[in-house]
Amino acid sequence: PYVLTEKEFVNRYDLTYPFEERGLQFGDGVYEVIRVYRGNLYLIEEHVERLYRSAAAIHLQVPYEKEEMYKQLKQLLHLNDFTTDGKVYLQLTRGSAPRDHVFPVGVQPNLYAYVAPLSRKHSLMKNGVATITQKDVRWDYCYIKSLNLLPNVMAKQAAKEQGCFEAILHRNGKVTECSSSNVYVVKDGAIYTHPAEKNILHGCVRMRVEAFAKETGIPFHEEAFHLEDIQYADELFLSSSTAEVMPIIEVDGNTIANGRPGQVTMQLQQAYEADAN
Ligand code: PDD
Repeated sequence: PYVLTEKEFVNRYDLTYPFEERGLQFGDGVYEVIRVYRGNLYLIEEHVERLYRSAAAIHLQVPYEKEEMYKQLKQLLHLNDFTTDGKVYLQLTRGSAPRDHVFPVGVQPNLYAYVAPLSRKHSLMKNGVATITQKDVRWDYCYIKSLNLLPNVMAKQAAKEQGCFEAILHRNGKVTECSSSNVYVVKDGAIYTHPAEKNILHGCVRMRVEAFAKETGIPFHEEAFHLEDIQYADELFLSSSTAEVMPIIEVDGNTIANGRPGQVTMQLQQAYEADAN
């Protein structure tokens, strides 16, 4: 298997790093997860744009021009004869250098990207998932797709331990997003979700959900909802590159509406299906 680095393609087993690597020691880097359908990268431009934004926010330069980046990622799939469903994981760190909090002088960024198989979650998407709610204890710059994922990992694990798929995060009762996805409520036919500000990751699928809603004539409000709105919701769903458009049918043990995926959610799933395939 081939992996793309900041310079070239290498065999996966030849890729090694010094133990003083800033991604490992500080989480000093950013990443992307890009969905692949039948060997094609979905929303590649949106992901590469966000990679550039995340990198710039932490004063890191992406070692490829945007056009070159698209080309290299397509080449990654080509070299690996990857023609099925999967995901590309890409990470960019400040580089390898003796440990010091300040940016080491002359340090060169490390980048790697690999492709791995990932099948679609058809049954969950059809039936919906259960979730829990958790305090959002992350920092103020969640729009940066940072490697520092400990709060997200802890929240997702708490969900898992309660037999749930995701943790819905809130700041003082105001819902931001989930541990690794964006979240939406549907009330009286309109969609509400936290504005794309610094407190959430600006999801690539979220951008598409907004576009699908506008194309279908479903009102889409970038207006945060609160924990107490959940019990009165007509529908709840989440979105991400790996979960696509996923209905939420339970929150903290309480059923949402009739416990089945709602009309608006299913409409968005159809729009996603048409867009991705
Ligand atoms: N997570 N919010 C958070 C905190 C995320 O980590 C993600 C993606 C999203 C959805 O973004 P997008 O629609 O661009 O996938 C929202 C990826 C899939 C991950 O960390 O594995």
